[in-house]
Amino acid sequence: MKSSELRTKFLEYFKKNGHEIIPSASLVPENDPTVLFTTAGMHPLVPFLLGEKHPAGKRLVSCQKCIRTVDIDDVGDDTHNTFFEMLGNWSLGDYWKEEAINWSFEFLTKELKIPLERLAISCFAGDKDAPKDEESAKIWESLGIKKERIDFLPKEDNWWGPAGKTGPCGPDTEVFYWKLNNTPVPEKFDAKDKNWVEIWNAGVFMEYIKDENGNYNLAQQKNVDTGMGLERTIAILNGKENVYETDLFSPIIEEIEKISGKKYITNERPMRIIADHIKASVFLIAEGITPSNVGRGYILRRLIRRAVRYGRFIEIENFTKQIIGPIFDIYKNYPDLQDKKSKIISELEKEEKAFLEKLDQGLKQAEKIFSSKKPINPGKFNELMANPNKGDLIGRVFDKKRNGVDYSLKDPKLSKEEIDGAEINGQEAFLLFQSYGFPLEMIDELAMAKGFLVSHEDFRIEQKKHQELSRTASAGMFKGGLADASLETTKLHTAAHLMLAGLRKVLGGDVYQKGSNITSERLRFDFSYKEKLSSEQLKDVENFVNDIIKKDLPVWFEEMSLEKAKEINAMGVFESKYGDRVKVYFIGKGIENISKEICGGPHVERTGILGHFKIQKEESSSSGVRRIKAILSSQ
Ligand code: ALA
Repeated sequence: MKSSELRTKFLEYFKKNGHEIIPSASLVPENDPTVLFTTAGMHPLVPFLLGEKHPAGKRLVSCQKCIRTVDIDDVGDDTHNTFFEMLGNWSLGDYWKEEAINWSFEFLTKELKIPLERLAISCFAGDKDAPKDEESAKIWESLGIKKERIDFLPKEDNWWGPAGKTGPCGPDTEVFYWKLNNTPVPEKFDAKDKNWVEIWNAGVFMEYIKDENGNYNLAQQKNVDTGMGLERTIAILNGKENVYETDLFSPIIEEIEKISGKKYITNERPMRIIADHIKASVFLIAEGITPSNVGRGYILRRLIRRAVRYGRFIEIENFTKQIIGPIFDIYKNYPDLQDKKSKIISELEKEEKAFLEKLDQGLKQAEKIFSSKKPINPGKFNELMANPNKGDLIGRVFDKKRNGVDYSLKDPKLSKEEIDGAEINGQEAFLLFQSYGFPLEMIDELAMAKGFLVSHEDFRIEQKKHQELSRTASAGMFKGGLADASLETTKLHTAAHLMLAGLRKVLGGDVYQKGSNITSERLRFDFSYKEKLSSEQLKDVENFVNDIIKKDLPVWFEEMSLEKAKEINAMGVFESKYGDRVKVYFIGKGIENISKEICGGPHVERTGILGHFKIQKEESSSSGVRRIKAILSSQ
């Protein structure tokens, strides 16, 4: 069966049973600041699960694109993907367990014709928050599932949600499939046996709302939420042991084979990672996300960089443009993707190229660090690395050592001396991160490939130290002091606000301040922008600033809550340093207002005093960040 067929079958089956088909929502959740991405089909439906009326009714079905990044370093094994699609059906205060389970059963056994003897079921075991789910188990049994094939599991397995910190959630019941074709299906279900693959969360019975304090309160509206992974299900339906051998991946893998002249067999891990990460990147860029050092942009950056790094293992570079061809062919069901093709290509190529420039130097630096350590015995290490699902465990176990809990792997056992000798400390890891742009998981993998271990905890400590330092520096700079408190410095500070307003006017609203350094001689100002400014653009910015100076507008401030400042769209720089109450500086009143910035001051009182503003230099500061040096003179 083709993936497109499974999508259609699912949607049509539930449509036949009274559900309305709704389109996939964006990967970036609307109005949910607690998460970066849509991670499940129910995510865009949260307001309706909480009781809002959905315009399409009480029974819905969809195929939702999703991104999950918590397990980024598991990608490469048989079942984890960054980007995936989730088929789901919902009851918004309508049907309950009986119907939900009956339909799941019928869809699996009749529509997909999965033999009953290959299936097993898990239900919630019960705890202080909610009772054991005997009801679901009984319904499954009544449909022919044997008792031995039903297990009751605790919250960590059989409870789902909320998607963010708070919201609808509840116990669930999950369907597992025995994936091995050449061994008999065991009589008894054992969820720990990895050959039982979960294919459908056939019902989260959303009876609870988790609140800010972590309490589970009974919901007013009882909902059913289900989720079936399209990739996994299409794999098992075709007798494949992993998702990379399905039509959702094989054309991409074939392209990678073609470019590299290497075979997938023996190069599974790099090829899987490249295919997965670039696919996810394509979808992220299509949503308007671009590589950066924060939030969603940093996830995207990490995905592209990790793919580029894995390209080295199979000796390919500048490959992203070529391998995205098949991605567009596979996902014809997302028309908006096709429209963004050229933007996607240019963002991928830019990031790939920029990272390649640093990659070799960084790899050299890593070698230097490794040469001063003692690797773990290769035999033991290989044993760990042999299984792609197991390798990543090492870094985590290593951190446990630091917490004093457990510093040895049971299988195979490592001594404390072995771990200590092979340690890449926080400073070393941070150097690779900071100076060469290596994301942490990449440093981890580099180290592990050679028998070394990175202490994540030390790395975080180092990173924090660094953040505090730069925060202190920037806070000092804006807290009235600047480099000094002379009139000249203060004037240049006001000029910096005018210039930001000018840059945003000339270059557009994507321009944000990234940093500044002001002395009595000149201002230096970093801001986000993708390319070199033309001389006309620079002239336009200069003219804008000089016009405002001539208008002699007032510069004034108001104190307000941070919330209010955000509401009125005041510009800010270092989010995390602000307290609950902030000062917002305005330039010009009423319709003449041209600038509002969260800022400690000081500033001059009127713009007229600034004299003449001149840009001296415009250059690149770092990837995606430009730097301007400017002065004020009296002419
Ligand atoms: N929301 C549920 C899940 O993601 C169905 O498993």
